[in-house]
Formats: sequence, structure tokens, C-alpha cells
Amino acid sequence: MTAVGTPAERREGREKVTGTARYAAEEHLPGRLFARPVPAATARGRVTDVDVSAALALPGVVAVLTHENAPRLAAPDDPTLAVLQDPEVPHRGWFTALVVADSLETARAGAAAVRVTCAEEEHDVTLAADHPRAYVPETINGSFPGAREQGDPDGAFTGAEVRVDVVYRVPPLHNHPMEPHASTAHWDGERLTVHTSSQGTTAVRAALGRMFGLPKERITVVAEHVGGGFGSKGTPRPDVVLASMAAWHTGRPVTVVVPRRMMPTTVGHRAATLNRLRLGADAGGRLTSLAHEVTTYSSRVKEFVEYAGIPARVMYAAPHRSSVHRVVRLDVPTPSWMRAPGEAPGMYALESAMDELAEALGMDPIEVRILNEPRTEPDSGKPFSSRHLVECLREGARRFGWAGRDPRPRTRSAGPLLFGTGVAAATYPVQVYPSSAAARALPDGSFLVEVNAADIGTGARTVLAQIGADALGVPLERVVIRVGSSDLPAAPLAGGSSGTASWGWAVHEACARLRGQLAGRQSPLPAEGLQARADTAGVADAESPFARHAFGAHFAEVSVDTVTGEVRVRRLLGVYAAGRILNPRTARSQFVGGMTMGLGMALTEGSTLDAAFGDFAESDLASYHVPAHADVPDVEAHWIEEDDPHLNPLGGKGIGEIGIVGTAAAVGNAVHHATGIRFRELPLTPDRVL
Ligand code: MOS
Repeated sequence: MTAVGTPAERREGREKVTGTARYAAEEHLPGRLFARPVPAATARGRVTDVDVSAALALPGVVAVLTHENAPRLAAPDDPTLAVLQDPEVPHRGWFTALVVADSLETARAGAAAVRVTCAEEEHDVTLAADHPRAYVPETINGSFPGAREQGDPDGAFTGAEVRVDVVYRVPPLHNHPMEPHASTAHWDGERLTVHTSSQGTTAVRAALGRMFGLPKERITVVAEHVGGGFGSKGTPRPDVVLASMAAWHTGRPVTVVVPRRMMPTTVGHRAATLNRLRLGADAGGRLTSLAHEVTTYSSRVKEFVEYAGIPARVMYAAPHRSSVHRVVRLDVPTPSWMRAPGEAPGMYALESAMDELAEALGMDPIEVRILNEPRTEPDSGKPFSSRHLVECLREGARRFGWAGRDPRPRTRSAGPLLFGTGVAAATYPVQVYPSSAAARALPDGSFLVEVNAADIGTGARTVLAQIGADALGVPLERVVIRVGSSDLPAAPLAGGSSGTASWGWAVHEACARLRGQLAGRQSPLPAEGLQARADTAGVADAESPFARHAFGAHFAEVSVDTVTGEVRVRRLLGVYAAGRILNPRTARSQFVGGMTMGLGMALTEGSTLDAAFGDFAESDLASYHVPAHADVPDVEAHWIEEDDPHLNPLGGKGIGEIGIVGTAAAVGNAVHHATGIRFRELPLTPDRVL
């Protein structure tokens, strides 16, 4: 391999930094209209009247869609897409109308003029561990058992020499990609074309086909450039349905951009989790019992479970163990995937509790973790395809300068500042889904590689071209790559840190096949070239005889201002074992991006469901604080070369999510080291810390 492993520059970088990269809302089609949704102001109830007269009277307003006049669609698989189909209001912010106008400004004025009357019912948006309607789902999002138990975790905990019994709370968190959710739709007879901001348009096409009753040949969904998603664009969102309906209704192209303040309620979010951890250990530090009980919520619209108890099934050896998820269906906006769903909040809680255990034992937190390394995956008993957590911890300790650390809290200070350091482990599963790809050799000596991957800012194009070049045995410059359209060979989403492995497998296969066809060929290529296709199956978890996960270690150094309560991260270091790193330049960006998001989770990001109104109090970027550059002084990402033959032909484990996983715990543990105080609720804002 010559291209894979090199720090190739991202192919669309110049387009992006010069502003020529076009996003979904920037399809300047002739006659285009703009539409603005009207959110419900009721947390639970039913629309009894929509008065659209004032909106329609505004010059430039073309139409107002409501549940009474919107096109009737077939029921979607995802009920959050069934917008304007009935008068029910399942949560505040649910869309009740859509104003279509000749400009964005007029649509906005029109939306403000729509009067929606609702019959209100009592609502409940308050999560509590003792909520009477909490239940344990049989499966979590169809993937994992809701509860697992081995041995006698209660008995072993009660009898343990050292015990930690703590509750860590993670608030609702919002994905807030820089580019809001947006779609531009137009119909050509009964053919629908949509430009949308999505992590995977093959699935968007399937959803639209089902809802509008169209065969896939009559739908094209394009996502050429995507300004981030963090999971919130992993599935189609209401904007794509609204734009398609409005374009059908008006006969003109329509763009819907979800306003920033409507995103928290309509594009998914990370649900709050209450994490009760009970760790029992012998005096030597070996875990005898590990129990993680998660209480979280979903909406009335659908059950989505933030599976924060899953890492407890993977991380540490303990003969007695349990992990249970309890869900309460509340009148809240529907939660969904957000970067490292499950692992991010779950590992925050588990890794904070492990730090508490180390303190209770009087042991170094790295050594406690190493002591409890499992030989096989604790829950399944499967051998790990590879697991280099210990190496990550040791390498991180070396780079960070952990040796000689005084474990006693509150021992380093300067003026009003206290300093501390903390460590936490990270894990994220390996997932590989079916994909297809095509590769074509052209007479001019170039190669066209096609796969409906989504480049959400990760550099997917670049790494896929690298994979293709090596499989073809040609220089990288000769490979042209096309991604981001449902007309290309079908592919799974950019999500679950699975994109590169899934698409890359198909690209590798198609290119290797083409290379085989070209080898020994004597005659010149026809004008249209020569094409090979591949459909790869991936490896489903259940099929693999191995437990496949990436691992990592995070280290943080913080200062805590005893006058203002301000916590600042001074250094952040991550060391990862994530299989083969295919492009060190773009990989580093993803690791650092994940750690930055983890820093936000630790210190600044947090949302509140207002009990009276049933809505998030922090619905824009002025109140929901994501880290700015000044908050991120020194972030380093490194990795351990890992050669794992049980993954895919490329040997990569996926890197998009693991960066966030242990970061918040490392920061929190450092804050404890600085102050001697355990804060068990995120984010660590000055009001909490003072
Ligand atoms: Mo990620 S939350 O799987 O897009």
C-alpha cells in the first residue's frame, strides 16, 4: 500500500475554504421558494385551529401547509417524519404548519403570522430515577438487550471490601452541527430531486420512496457537502419531508432550512441519563461486582434509548455484573443518535466511578484499570479481535508525564488557581455495514470510483480515493472519486464510526476486481471505459466470533479558579488503538474534534428541559455553549499501530466517535484532583464548581 497511510490532503478542502463548496440550501434553482416551519407552543395536546389568513395576506407568501391541506403520505418507519399528517402535538416544537414564500424573510414573517390554537393536556418532561412509568426495554433500539446480569451483583457488592455507589448525571445535549438541517426539493413530473444535508442519502431516498409512494428510480437525493451532523443527520429529518411536500404542493423548488432554535426539538438530541454505578472491589483493587443502572427518557413519538450501560459490558473484568437501562416515555422532543451514543455518557459515568474507586483503594487510577483488564469480553465471553487499552494508558502516561504525579487532591496551586490531572479510558465498537461501489477505468488513464458515501467533514472522499488507488495499484492523482448522491452505488451512512470501513471495503473490492479485469488485457479501452462493481456484506456483530472494539486513553490537565469557579482545560491528550490509521492527517482531525466535543460536554454544553413549558431552555448557540478556540489550548492525539486481521481488508476500526468517549471523565477526574471535590453532574460550569 502506498496511498493508504499517507497524510493526503482533503480533496474538497480548497472548495470549502474558498466558499465554492455548495450546501443543500444553496441550490439556486429558478423559481425557488423558501419555507419556514411553525413550531408548536404546547408540550402536549392537539391542534384545534390553524388561522393562516394573516400569513396568506402577506405579499410573497405562496402557501401555508397544515395537517389539513398537506399531501397525505404513507406512514414512515420513523414516526418523527410524519409531519403535518395529523393534529396531534406530541411535544413542544413539533411542526404544526409550514409557510412557503418567495424569500426566506417573507417565509419567516409569514410563520410569525400563523395562529395555531391547541387543546392542551397535562405534560411531563421531568426525568427521575423513581419515575413510576420507568420500564426496562427488552432490546435497545433493536440492537442490544436492555438488561444483562451475570452472577450476583447485589450480593457481591454488599460483601465487597471497597465499595463505590454513586450517581452521575448527564444533561440533554444537542448535536448542533455548524450547517443546520436543510433541504432543497424539486419535482419534475413524478420525479423528485432533493439536495439535503445528510449523513447518508441512500436511506433518505428509501424513506422518501416509502412516504411518497415512489420507486427509487424516480428519486435522487444529493448531499455533496455536509457541514457536520454528529448523528443528527444520520437519519432523514422533517426538513426533507417538508421541502418535498411543499415543492409538490406549489409545483416549484422549495428550500427548508431548520432554524437553529428549532433544531433542539426536531433533529434529535442526546437524552439525559442518570447513571448509578456500584463498584465493589477487594482490598487489592480487583473488581468483584460492577453494576451500571441507567435511567433515561424517550418521547411519546418513538422509543430511542441512550444506551449508556453498554460500555459496562465491555470494559472491565468482574465476576458479578449487571447493566440495566430504564426508560420513561415523556412529553419531550425525540432523542436520537449523538456522537458516541451510549458510550459518551456511559463512559463518563463509569470512568468517573473508576477514579472514585482508585481513590477509595489508594491506588493509581491507571493501575486499577490495568489490574481489571478482562481476558475476553466480559459480557459475551468472546475474545477481543485486538485490545490495546493497556498500551494506550501506558503510552499516554509517558507522553503526558503522569509518572511522579502526587495523587493527593488540592496539592498544586498558584494564586487562586488549583491544578489537577485526570485520566479515563475510552472504547467504541467496530461496526461494518453492507455497501456497494463501482470503479471504472477510462481510456485517458484515469479511474472513476463511485460510492454513495457522505463526506460530513471527515475527509471521506480523500481516504476512499486512497483506498481505491492502492487497490488499483495506481497513483492517487489518477483516481477521481464521486460520493454524495443516491444515484451512485448504494451505501450506508456516515455514522457509528463505520463509514470508512463499510464503503472502503466495497471500494477496495470493486477496484481490486477492476485491476484483475485490466491485467492481461491487450485491446485499448472503449470510450466509456471498463467498469467493475462490488457489493460487500460487512460483518454484523452477531456473526463475528470476536468482540471488536477500538480503545483509547484520555488525559487532561485543568485549572480551577477558586474565585470565579471557572474550569479551564490546559492540556488534553488522547492515545488510541483503533486498528490501522488510513490517513493520519484527517484521522488526527477527527480525534481532536471528538476530544473538543468531549471538552464541551465536560465544561460548557448542557441543556435543560423546562418543566413548565416542556422545551429546552438552551435552544441557540448563545445559550448552549460549544467550545471556542480559546477553550481548546493544547490538544494532542496519538495512536498505537494496531494490526487486526479480524475487521475488514483495510484493518481500520473507525475513529469518528471514540475521541469524545473518555474526555469528559478525564476532565472531571482532573477537576477532582485539583479541588478534592467530586462533581457528579455535567457540565462543570462556574455556578456548580464555586
Ligand atoms: Mo454517529 S452518532 O453514529 O453519526
